[in-house]
Amino acid sequence: MKINSLLLVLISVVFCSCYNDNMEELYPELSSGCDTTNVTYSLTVAPILNNYCLNCHSTSAANGSGGGIKLGSFTDVVTYEANGKLLGSIKHLGGYSPMPKGGGTLSDCKIRQLDKWIEKGAKND
Ligand code: HEC
Repeated sequence: MKINSLLLVLISVVFCSCYNDNMEELYPELSSGCDTTNVTYSLTVAPILNNYCLNCHSTSAANGSGGGIKLGSFTDVVTYEANGKLLGSIKHLGGYSPMPKGGGTLSDCKIRQLDKWIEKGAKND
């Protein structure tokens, strides 16, 4: 009886840890809750910029609080994607002004999603 329950406990411990390991290895996007598959300009990039950047960088705000930098349209955004400043600033890399200004960093997930959009060609999709 004693040995049986011990075995049962052992089996469930082994089962549980294997199960968890596999979930994370097989489905990293699912287990972290970060969707980097369905990433597009209109569904992902524009809403992030809208929420965290456009109060300073919209076409109308840029000359006031945004240092003249506009991120309110696709054409504007790809300019800063192409010169490396978009990623440099959100990843707080040396040589770039850290963004969002005065607001910490974007979440890892949002940075990975922006990375993914660029990796897929920074398209107006
Ligand atoms: C509170 C206002 C404010 C917010 C919010 C803000 N910015 Fe800025 N941003 C500025 C100002 C002002 C400058 C220009 C002066 C400077 O570099 O500090 C700037 C500069 C930049 C630059 C040029 C950086 C460089 O090194 O030349 C980029 C790119 C940029 N912002 C992107 C963003 C992005 C992306 C977000 C949102 C994640 C964001 N900003 C949020 C105010 C802001």
